[in-house]
Amino acid sequence: MGVINTAAAFENIGKAGFLDIEVDADLDLFAEIERLKQEKNAVVLAHYYQEPDIQDVADYIGDSLGLAQQAQRTEADIIVFAGVHFMAETAKILNPSKKVLLPDLKAGCSLSDSAPPALFKLFKEKYPDHLVISYINCSAGIKALSDIICTSSNAQKIVESLPADQPIIFAPDKNLGAYINKQTGRNMVLWNGACMVHEMFSLEKINRLKVRHPQAKVIAHPECEEAVLRIADTIGSTTQLLKYTEKSEFNEFIVVTETGILHQMQKNSPHKTFIPAPPNNSCACNDCPHMKLNTLEKLYLCLEYEQPELVMDEEIRIAAKRPIERMLEISAQYGL
Ligand code: 13P
Ligand code: SF4
Repeated sequence: MGVINTAAAFENIGKAGFLDIEVDADLDLFAEIERLKQEKNAVVLAHYYQEPDIQDVADYIGDSLGLAQQAQRTEADIIVFAGVHFMAETAKILNPSKKVLLPDLKAGCSLSDSAPPALFKLFKEKYPDHLVISYINCSAGIKALSDIICTSSNAQKIVESLPADQPIIFAPDKNLGAYINKQTGRNMVLWNGACMVHEMFSLEKINRLKVRHPQAKVIAHPECEEAVLRIADTIGSTTQLLKYTEKSEFNEFIVVTETGILHQMQKNSPHKTFIPAPPNNSCACNDCPHMKLNTLEKLYLCLEYEQPELVMDEEIRIAAKRPIERMLEISAQYGL
């Protein structure tokens, strides 16, 4: 980090995705970020998969639904989104007049990338009588082609809010879609997308962990494959899993989602034990390479220089706004 001067860093931002400016190693980044937030009336929204330091400086940490709701109600002038691109995009769609910053513009999402809008448009044309429900982990282009957006915490309620005989296309996550089909008895047409992180968990290694920790409860995110979900004691969004561990009478959990969430779990239940589920490779835990592109240094720099900023096409923004608002309306009706 920090190889070029400020002017060159600004010029290079499109290529690098972030401001590559050297940060003084003695700077108290926590204090500096707090100062800048006050001075600029900025808010830091962070997802649970962010590194612990970022979670600790955030004004709000949450799952995708909570983050969208916070983005909708914030009165800050600047939103720093410590998450991935589609999350910052959602904040911008809801707040066109606010400045939305993302510490690293290259923080993408494999699931979102699995649904290119041009291909999805052709797919949708094959099912003219179907409504489209899209998981929030998709680009604004896909949102603009959708009728309602959902997240992992409200997907079931959103599907159930539609008449039982309403044909539905569910995109882009086939695992979440299959799970919701199973829960609701529907037969939604599924787009063939998946999250690289959640597809990588090893059923065999989780089963071995279960043998070593017979008291542990397996808690899993619905982006995991069906075989993993079948052995889970509870399934839910990151916030739902976190709440489950807080309220549970059990003390040990095998956590089958991205490891960032363990920071809040351990913080909120210091006497309980959290074991990250291992992926299908030589690593012991499973980090999202996109989420982990953001760092505390990049967050500080983007707040200081107000770059990189998320900008978007106004036509797509307007088309993508209605399905997000529908999700927020239905969620409010159910008290979510
Ligand atoms: P939630 O936090 O909404 O459960 O989503 C998980 C995820 O994969 C975000 O990228
Ligand atoms: Fe996308 Fe998966 Fe990373 Fe979430 S964890 S941002 S769904 S790649």
